[in-house]
Amino acid sequence: MSNKEFLIGAATAAHQVEGNNTNSDIWAMEQMKYGGYPEKSLDAADHYNRYKEDIALLKEAGLNAYRFSIEWARIEPVEGTFDEKEMQHYLDMVHCCKENGIEPIITLHHFSSPKWLIEKGGWESEVVIEAFEKYTRFVASRLANEVIKYICTINEANMGNLIAIYIRQAKEQYEKQNSENSSMQIGLNLEQMQKEHEEKVRENLEVFGVEEPAVFVSPRSPEGNKIIMEAHKSAVEVIHELMPDTKAGLSLSLRDVQAFPGGEERAARDWYEEFEEFLPAIIDDDFIGVQNYTRTRFGSDGELSPEEGAELTQMGYEFYPEGLPHVIRRVHEAFKGDILVTENGIATDDDSRRVEFIMRAFAGVRECIKDGIPVKGYMYWSLLDNFEWQSGYTMRFGLIGVDRATKERTVKPSLRFLGGMNSADSKKRNFAAAAIAGAAK
Ligand code: BGC
Repeated sequence: MSNKEFLIGAATAAHQVEGNNTNSDIWAMEQMKYGGYPEKSLDAADHYNRYKEDIALLKEAGLNAYRFSIEWARIEPVEGTFDEKEMQHYLDMVHCCKENGIEPIITLHHFSSPKWLIEKGGWESEVVIEAFEKYTRFVASRLANEVIKYICTINEANMGNLIAIYIRQAKEQYEKQNSENSSMQIGLNLEQMQKEHEEKVRENLEVFGVEEPAVFVSPRSPEGNKIIMEAHKSAVEVIHELMPDTKAGLSLSLRDVQAFPGGEERAARDWYEEFEEFLPAIIDDDFIGVQNYTRTRFGSDGELSPEEGAELTQMGYEFYPEGLPHVIRRVHEAFKGDILVTENGIATDDDSRRVEFIMRAFAGVRECIKDGIPVKGYMYWSLLDNFEWQSGYTMRFGLIGVDRATKERTVKPSLRFLGGMNSADSKKRNFAAAAIAGAAK
């Protein structure tokens, strides 16, 4: 794929790399006993101060796109007060990308929100719709003089649904196990759970003023999904109004859902909750951001574990780069706009596995394009080793390593490999070819 138009890049999210995102909900939760974050993000990868160096590395390796997010809590730390200086920071990032020949792909919301929003009911409350519209209006009005090809309103708009699915599955599993166990066991667990629940509620009230904060990554109700879709739609309208040449869309986390005998119904339900439920709200969007990491298989007993001996990534799920083209094809059956791969990648300490993953995922993308599917770009997750939410700093997704103490960057071969895929420079293409040969051994 040596096509100048095709975007090959990497992605990050503000909270995971910038550091000191102190006005956000997730920052607040990191400080809590029951917030669910065993490790704090602190200064993260210090990307807020080092973005120039990071963009230069990206360029040097031959990549031509960078997907990053704007942190709402920096732009609007207090409801209705918009910070021009923080906005200038993101404009500087855009300019830095442009100066380096890198296409900036901007995400307006990537999991973290201003703390005040959660105090007002968060992502289960209709206040989000107007609040997100105002924030989008401010950002889009400041970006209006820039040439930006793609803006992603909301990262993984279906994440709350996915979390609700996980919780439902865990409950089913728990109930199944406990029906085979003694009632004594159930009694003890419930007592402990009840006590912790009360303490948690107390802490939530202290920090957020609500018993159960509805952050973006909380399990979502069907009403909550509708609210997210409304917020998305009004943000798209604002972008079209203020930036008529920019394509607007959102991204979804999409597993490659596979049905094995007896698992057809469960697989269909899962795909509905991951994708089809959101389709009516996005069908007219300019593009969709596809984010895939693995597959999930359903049989007659529900979700199947990976096959014996299957390679797993640090995250514990199956190494399965073929999931990406499968998902792209399935999405394209229903959605006819542009497709951007906004995230795809693995966490591993063995960079040669990352090279293999990218190579195989990419080969699949190439086939999709050959078959006429409008895939416009591929963003690897992630540019940097970063703060992987509740897993803290233990997961290494990056094309660039980051020393936790000094923040020194180490370029991994996979970065040059990815850059080589689209390079006009034959040296870089040869590097990619050599890496492919190495990975194929
Ligand atoms: C999210 C990222 C996250 C990645 C790896 C995606 O769901 O958008 O923020 O780090 O997966 O787990």
